[in-house]
Amino acid sequence: MTILITAGPTREPLDPVRYLTNRSSGKMGYAIADSAAAHQHRIILISGPTEIEIPDGVDFIPVETAAEMYAAVEKYINKADIAIFAAAVADYRPAEFQDQKIKKHGDTLTLELVKNPDILGSCRDKFHFTGTLIGFAAETQNVESNARGKLERKGCDLVIANDVSRADIGFDSNENEILLVYKDQTELIEKAQKSHLAHIILDLATKLHRTS
Ligand code: CTP
Repeated sequence: MTILITAGPTREPLDPVRYLTNRSSGKMGYAIADSAAAHQHRIILISGPTEIEIPDGVDFIPVETAAEMYAAVEKYINKADIAIFAAAVADYRPAEFQDQKIKKHGDTLTLELVKNPDILGSCRDKFHFTGTLIGFAAETQNVESNARGKLERKGCDLVIANDVSRADIGFDSNENEILLVYKDQTELIEKAQKSHLAHIILDLATKLHRTS
């Protein structure tokens, strides 16, 4: 099978030396890519900047901004049977890129931001993707109901949610605890190594694809 995975943060440049970004190590997305490549699937890994080595045997598409990630997903998604969106995409970008470094002036600085496109949310309506669609939801409260809202709004088959307010899991940690939110049920997978969760997620994704 061909599996497209987005991973890592995006970077939205403000001037030549500064950018806005999201907190994300990329570990979860890369762990899924590793696991899928080991199972002989074809992987298209579209990734923002991370410190992680590129897994062997994947087609690697490096991107920086949300706009670049959007264009890469648009180009490749219809080659995929399954698409897994683990990237932490910046929801907004600076309205203007300043060619020269912004100098200090007053005591405050107001930035104008404009909304980035919702890449996962474009898959069904704009890219006409009909394969299995899996999103992530990093939440600090009302984890299940927020994740279910995303599942419905973005046309996903599964949303994998985690509580990022907990210090012991998520972000830079090697461990995570995830809530699987399907159209008709919810299931908790207790705290485990991200590499182990990656195997579980891959297994669920291929099963979902076979039964859809
Ligand atoms: N996502 C995306 N493009 C965006 C924002 C999010 O593809 N511009 C994807 C993420 O990769 C993730 C899912 O959508 O799989 C949910 O991301 P999240 O940031 O939690 O959701 P938002 O829709 O941005 O909602 P909010 O920030 O309001 O919680």
